[in-house]
Amino acid sequence: MWLPCRCTTKYVAASIRRGVSASSLHALRRGRSSWNSAAFMPESAGFEGVSGRDALHDYSVSHSENFWAAVARQRLNWIRPFEAVQDCDLSQGRIKWFEGGKLNVSVNCLDRHVHTCPERVALIWERDERGSEVRYTYRELLEMTCRLGNLLRRHGVKKGDCVTIYMPTCPLAVASMLACARIGAAHNVVFAGFSSEALAERIRDAQSSTVITVNQGVRGGKITELKRTVDAAVQSCPTVRQVFVAMRTEKRVEVTDRDFALEEEMLKEDVVCEPAAMDSEDVLFLLYTSGSTGKPKGLVHTQAGYLLYAALTHRYVFGYHDGDVFGCVADIGWITGHSYTVYGPLANGGTTVLFESTPVYPDPGRYWDMVERLRINQFYGAPTAIRLLIRYGDQWVKKYDRSSLTTLGSVGEPINTEAWEWYNRVVGEGRCPVVDTWWQTETGGICIAPKPSEPDAEIVPGMAMRPFFGIKPALMDTEGKLLTSNNASGALCMAQPWPGMARTIHNNHQRFLETYFQPYPGYFFTGDGAYRSQEGYYQITGRLDDVINVSGHRIGTAEIEDVVVIRSDEAHLSDFILIISVTQFAKRLPKTRSGKIMRRVLRKVVDCDLDSLGDLSTLDDPAAVQEIIEGHEKLLSK
Ligand code: WTA
Repeated sequence: MWLPCRCTTKYVAASIRRGVSASSLHALRRGRSSWNSAAFMPESAGFEGVSGRDALHDYSVSHSENFWAAVARQRLNWIRPFEAVQDCDLSQGRIKWFEGGKLNVSVNCLDRHVHTCPERVALIWERDERGSEVRYTYRELLEMTCRLGNLLRRHGVKKGDCVTIYMPTCPLAVASMLACARIGAAHNVVFAGFSSEALAERIRDAQSSTVITVNQGVRGGKITELKRTVDAAVQSCPTVRQVFVAMRTEKRVEVTDRDFALEEEMLKEDVVCEPAAMDSEDVLFLLYTSGSTGKPKGLVHTQAGYLLYAALTHRYVFGYHDGDVFGCVADIGWITGHSYTVYGPLANGGTTVLFESTPVYPDPGRYWDMVERLRINQFYGAPTAIRLLIRYGDQWVKKYDRSSLTTLGSVGEPINTEAWEWYNRVVGEGRCPVVDTWWQTETGGICIAPKPSEPDAEIVPGMAMRPFFGIKPALMDTEGKLLTSNNASGALCMAQPWPGMARTIHNNHQRFLETYFQPYPGYFFTGDGAYRSQEGYYQITGRLDDVINVSGHRIGTAEIEDVVVIRSDEAHLSDFILIISVTQFAKRLPKTRSGKIMRRVLRKVVDCDLDSLGDLSTLDDPAAVQEIIEGHEKLLSK
């Protein structure tokens, strides 16, 4: 693996048109007791009549163009300024932001920070082997990115191509993403735990000619043969011409004539790489997400709008300030890793942690040991991991000093009250706000979260609560009518476009329209249900296809999971399934690695249709399915 070379002094900073020092973006200092909009967000000084977070939110929605234009001018470096703020029509599924503008995402994430603070740490790679973390400065990350960009260019990768990245969370993976952005190619990161079939399907759909991988992966002390998986995948991918292989371990792997040793090739390249001038609406990346049925969808995100939204949400939802260490433990193969491990923190000139391990390796204290060692300020993880850690007991948390923590984030699924309370009380010692962040691959960044809020505003456990700037949620009833009152539940939609939203599904714009824009004309449909409380706060109730009706009450998976955890006396009964009139208890449910319950599998078990369980390779622990099947058989034989 490419390691930082401390003695190199050569670096390049691309010319910066609009020099904005990162620190000027962070005028608000901690400890301020009264709200000062201009200090909180410098751009708001130009927004008439805005005082306070709520007023700023109202303005961002009612004067959406002014808001986004000011923020985009201030927070992105443009090669050419944009001419139109937006050209969107949700009824047509048309979404365009900042047209006419040209920029380069890697320059925004690297060069401008190298210009002002070259020796600031950009990445802390928390390797699987505890205590062996490696730091990379902005200068070093830019150098890696430039060498990689030049290498890809020399090998014929050009604007419009899509490079598939099948790597664990590591610095070369980040440099690969940024190298694509630098030369104008799109990237398609595939989670490095997916099977060769799942990988092949994504490579084929993206029509990649280039794949970047590592010889072996190391996670939780286990070795995975990633290069071998790529070899198997490319057998059925005629478009693939070249595979670059980085060395995560010493182990030599079999090479074919399409393989290149990544680090060796990078050494031959120059450390200066001319950034491509990209249009705001050029593709930045594809990211595949499994739909509830059928083929994975390659959601498309573009340059300026995505980057701006990732940066702004990272800055304000988590209260990120210059000098903080941001620890998002999501894998880069998910949208959370894209937006909050890579693009958001780097666009803000932040220090971001790349977590390669698991929450329980080598023991259940891993997260908190890391927090102590790296002095992490904001920690962002998934409820599924929190629930797992609760079972091991508080001592694993309390063993470590967590005084650096200021904010705790949660994402990916509803966080039940018990897990929320534990996260808040045990991990955060009751002094760190817990932000339950709701969003999706489709939304590009966080849309609903308790923060930012007025100082000392309440945070309700297990509620995402407040729409972010520029976000206008709407709830629809079963007839498709807009619900205008509070204390109401319905299908969660968005009434206005925002810069971070996906633009299309790769190769299938029709599916994009049908899935997100046709169910409620004029709105973006999220597929989730939500409850709006008396106070106007939002609570996500789960996927709509999982909602059941009991005595006229809409009950979603969130509520069901919550109740079970609270009532259960025994931890091993904490997950269960409802089967019409019977209840089957199970120790665990089949979940994807990002913590989503794979309900299609449960339905097949319930229907006794075991021959069509489908692809189980994306499951975190396929053994869970076997347990459910056995449990179901027992239930039927009673
Ligand atoms: C669910 C992950 C409840 C939701 C960023 C959404 C949540 C899907 C939350 C997107 C939350 C995400 N509370 N449910 N805070 N966050 N979800 O695309 O069902 O992997 O539609 O993006 O996760 O999952 P995705």
